[in-house]
Amino acid sequence: MVATQFKPRLKVIAIDGPSASGKGTVAAQVAAILDRDYLDSGALYRLTALYAYQQNIGWQNEHEIAALAYKLPVVFRTDSILLDSEDVTAAIRTEKIGMGASAIAALPAVRTALLQRQRDFLTPRGLVADGRDMASVVFPQAELKIFLTASAQIRAQRRALQLGIATDGPDYQQILADIEKRDQADRSRAVAPLKPASDARILDTSSLSIKESVEKVLDWYRKI
Ligand code: DC
Repeated sequence: MVATQFKPRLKVIAIDGPSASGKGTVAAQVAAILDRDYLDSGALYRLTALYAYQQNIGWQNEHEIAALAYKLPVVFRTDSILLDSEDVTAAIRTEKIGMGASAIAALPAVRTALLQRQRDFLTPRGLVADGRDMASVVFPQAELKIFLTASAQIRAQRRALQLGIATDGPDYQQILADIEKRDQADRSRAVAPLKPASDARILDTSSLSIKESVEKVLDWYRKI
């Protein structure tokens, strides 16, 4: 007889999904409602990309960037993020740094460097973590795994709305093209590619409001 391996479940709700899917907003609200900590893992990749950029290190330099990632001098505050004492809350959200984050996220040594840092966010309070590989790599024993997605068009429309851009002009087309390019990069990389974990529940929010999406996650959580 083969002994079944006992794997304790972690007090983690993992929410993965593509860029601009709304997973960050949903994850942060679920964390607040359940009184848990919140990990925006994409911010760590963005911070690493920005830190390399500030030091003129090209985004292809795997080992130099991994070394930076290990010692990232970051402080997360409630409403801001400090990198080496500088407020970089807005600087990490630019499209340029997003593309940099996507590029360095494809480098295995960088992912290894950020792994423990992400796991350290879990305390007895519990965690809601969002990213691309929360369910598959960082917290494979998460108690609830969700892959939150929406069509590229809907995501581009939401991003345009946030930026006050009309959805029938060239700026919108550019946003859509950027989203599709980043999806392609995140899906096709060799390490931890963007895809639902085999045991994740799929939540397509194309026709859901944020409130409805949060409700759905809470509903699944109550039933686990
Ligand atoms: O979620 P975001 O757009 O802030 O993430 C920025 C980039 O970082 C994204 O293109 C892919 C990468 N990323 C990743 O590879 N793994 C994560 N857990 C989070 C983000």
